[in-house]
Amino acid sequence: MGDFLWWRDGVIYQIYPRSFADSNGDGFGDLPGITAKLDYLTSLGIDGIWLSPIYPSPDADFGYDVADHTAIDPRYGTMEDFDTLVGEAHQRGLRIILDLVLNHTSDRHPWFIESRSSRNNPKRGWYLWRDRPNNWASVFGGPGWFFDQATGQYYFHMFLKEQPDVNWQNPGVRKAQLDVFRFWLERGVDGFRLDVFNAYFKHPSLEDNPSRFGLRRFDRQIHVNDMDRPEMMPLLGEIRALLDSYTELYSVGEPFMPTIEKTARYAGEGKLHTAFHFFHNDMNLTPQWSAVRFRQQLLELLKASDGVYLPALAMSNHDTARAASRYCPGEDDANARIAMALLMTTYGTPFLYYGEEIGMRDISLGRKEILDPLGKYYWPFIKGRDGCRAPMQWDASANSGFSAGKPWLKIHSNFIQRNVAAQESDPDSLLNFSRKLISLRREYRALRDGGVLFLEPEQKDVLACLRLSSGETILVALNFSADRKKLDLPPGDWHSLLSTSGREGKISEKVALAAYEVCLMRSG
Ligand code: GLC
Repeated sequence: MGDFLWWRDGVIYQIYPRSFADSNGDGFGDLPGITAKLDYLTSLGIDGIWLSPIYPSPDADFGYDVADHTAIDPRYGTMEDFDTLVGEAHQRGLRIILDLVLNHTSDRHPWFIESRSSRNNPKRGWYLWRDRPNNWASVFGGPGWFFDQATGQYYFHMFLKEQPDVNWQNPGVRKAQLDVFRFWLERGVDGFRLDVFNAYFKHPSLEDNPSRFGLRRFDRQIHVNDMDRPEMMPLLGEIRALLDSYTELYSVGEPFMPTIEKTARYAGEGKLHTAFHFFHNDMNLTPQWSAVRFRQQLLELLKASDGVYLPALAMSNHDTARAASRYCPGEDDANARIAMALLMTTYGTPFLYYGEEIGMRDISLGRKEILDPLGKYYWPFIKGRDGCRAPMQWDASANSGFSAGKPWLKIHSNFIQRNVAAQESDPDSLLNFSRKLISLRREYRALRDGGVLFLEPEQKDVLACLRLSSGETILVALNFSADRKKLDLPPGDWHSLLSTSGREGKISEKVALAAYEVCLMRSG
């Protein structure tokens, strides 16, 4: 498969390490736990693993407040455990992507400890200190500036006050951050996910943001001065040149407050390899489950991509309610299959979030159980992100096989029925359905890089498209409704590749899709 490039054509699996597998019974997932599950991950047919942060962190924002970028938090294990994980993953042909959080550090990071120690400290300029705050706000609530008694100035934090933003305009910061890339590259990692990368640079004289209508203070501003600054482009060029000096390395950016157009601009030659398009996953909204809406979104995506930007596609991640929780009533997985098919067969590189392959649902928490700072601040309007971060459901044993100890976060009560072991032995499970889709994606090039042509079915609940590459045509047909739906196929000799209604062999040109059917067929 010479033309198969892992980060473009493959499937990437996101692990939230503290919730994946606990090897030592402390209730907290760890690196040896992940290593022990590599054969399972290989069996899914994935190509790479993205690890959410594994660095030492006081956990004000659950690992996204980093206190040392070049060490492993002892709760996850040691540097030796990390090297073992990388080595074992590579032996199985799996790549490792690290999460780099470089917009801000923890307030316990040695850089910040020095910076806040005195106005004359050489690292004072590594963060954004001012006598008077401007109007910038914090995403996690309240003003973006915190008054530091010790030196009588304010520092800026786009997220929590425990996450001061670094000053990327400072040459010392720039060098130190690029050294972080180098450190991990030398340890053999294959790529990086860049956390809120488009917020790195701020207006040099910290001008106020213009105002607009919005509910939260943060949303009542147009963010022209605290993100998406022009200084970003040369930096992306520098990062890309560094990555290109190794073989087949990868960078994927997390655009903050993205639009497709904006996101597309950051990806391509001399820039990031790609950036996320959060497919239909607006946090805490319940997006309409509709073929028409998905089709519309995909058309917009294709238009903005212009054949150049191949998005990193995600339905779920650690910041938003899981797709299955958003789209599935109760424990019914019919819509989860449609969502999985959309992710695997439309346009872009799919990112699976741990447990998505078995249809894990979010846990629900009471006010007192909330851990996420976002939920604590905005409750009950925003309940936070703990729901999608619950431990992996491996089997029906105590603590779902995740840990021999008390898990750091509660496990969904459905784990007795919904777990990997149960789904392994059921040929019709979501797990085996997901595997089948991943393997079809690998087998048929059209599903990876083929052009996308939407059919115009008479019935609005049907989403149908052709994926076309030289010599190969695949038709993807999805019935979003509980009723049978007619679909006229384009002329051709259609054969079923996968069908949730058991369709096999040749398919006639007039199809009646069963309720919620996912059907993939090839022509010829
Ligand atoms: C990103 C992360 C999120 C974190 C934030 C601040 O959006 O995905 O989890 O809270 O950055 O680091």
